[in-house]
Amino acid sequence: MTLSVKSLGVVLDGHALVDDFCLELEPGRVHAVVGESGSGKTLSALAVLGLLPEGAQARGSARRGGVELLTAAAPVRRAGLAMVLQEPLSALNPVLSVGEQLLETLAVHRTPGDLRAGAISLLGEVGIPQGAERLGMFPHQLSGGQRQRVSIACALAARPEVLIADEPTTALDASMRGVILTLLQKLARERSLAVWLITHDLHAVRGAADEVTVMYAGRVVEQGPTARVLESPRHPYTVALLAANPAAAKVGVPLPTLAGAVPLAREVIAGCRFHPRCPRAMEQCRAERPALVDGVACFSPVEGKP
Ligand SMILES: Nc1ncnc2c1ncn2[C@@H]1O[C@H](COP(=O)(O)OP(=O)(O)OP(=O)(O)O)[C@@H](O)[C@H]1O
Ligand code: SF4
Ligand SMILES: [Mg+2]
Repeated sequence: MTLSVKSLGVVLDGHALVDDFCLELEPGRVHAVVGESGSGKTLSALAVLGLLPEGAQARGSARRGGVELLTAAAPVRRAGLAMVLQEPLSALNPVLSVGEQLLETLAVHRTPGDLRAGAISLLGEVGIPQGAERLGMFPHQLSGGQRQRVSIACALAARPEVLIADEPTTALDASMRGVILTLLQKLARERSLAVWLITHDLHAVRGAADEVTVMYAGRVVEQGPTARVLESPRHPYTVALLAANPAAAKVGVPLPTLAGAVPLAREVIAGCRFHPRCPRAMEQCRAERPALVDGVACFSPVEGKP
């Protein structure tokens, strides 16, 4: 196990923005964390990295190599972890060339050998040929997909064991999304990297992630091997997310949608936080909070194919 996150909570101004989050990351595997906007995907990762917004506090545990990260000093905590952000233009420095940014990271992490050769090799690894020429280019001279590849190369330059990719394809066009997700999986396999992939698109994880965690309003509602979750979803929220697939829509047939909206973090909802929107809700759901048991947090999980 590369990273084991258990009972992670994030509290801000007395409100639990993330509650009882758990995740196991293994070398060579991609674990996707999926959920609607505001479900707590980014905050969970920032809590592990020690980068929470001011005033927010993390609770629980995140262990890597026998070290408790939540209480460790920043350099210990972040060693071995790297993050790729949604928008590569804001992640990369616009006034530094690709080479300057890569060489700086390689130097900080004391990569042995010729740094320039190391930078060119990293660019090749992320699918950018003619690296020697690209080193002199600036971020604005690259396409969106190339920029995201460069920011992945910068993250790899830190020689991480865990790569957290937060919506790495949202800023890209549809054809490039699959390419970047395939690249992340290739890097996971070849480098024995554990990849923590954050995305709002459950359909995008098919073929791109080995395991998936579905979040709703700050909590994990379903977790398991991707094939199992996609083929036989058990939580009513996962079922609804999969049903609302524009790619599978038929002409003239309205796309199934889920009534209502994700509750605000400060909204107090007793019992299961999904119950106001759940077609299977019953009395118990309004009073008690379901725990995550056998990969699903629900008192009345869907059995068999939905
Ligand atoms: N700096 C902040 N101050 C106050 N509340 C915040 C802050 N950052 C996030 N939140 C709240 O915490 C909750 C979880 O936010 P988070 O950014 O983790 O969501 P997310 O799942 O990553 O959403 P998205 O898909 O939009 O990126 C949301 O309700 C959000 O409003
Ligand atoms: S616990 Fe109840 S309300 Fe929550 S998802 Fe399951 S059936 Fe629906
Ligand atoms: Mg986010």
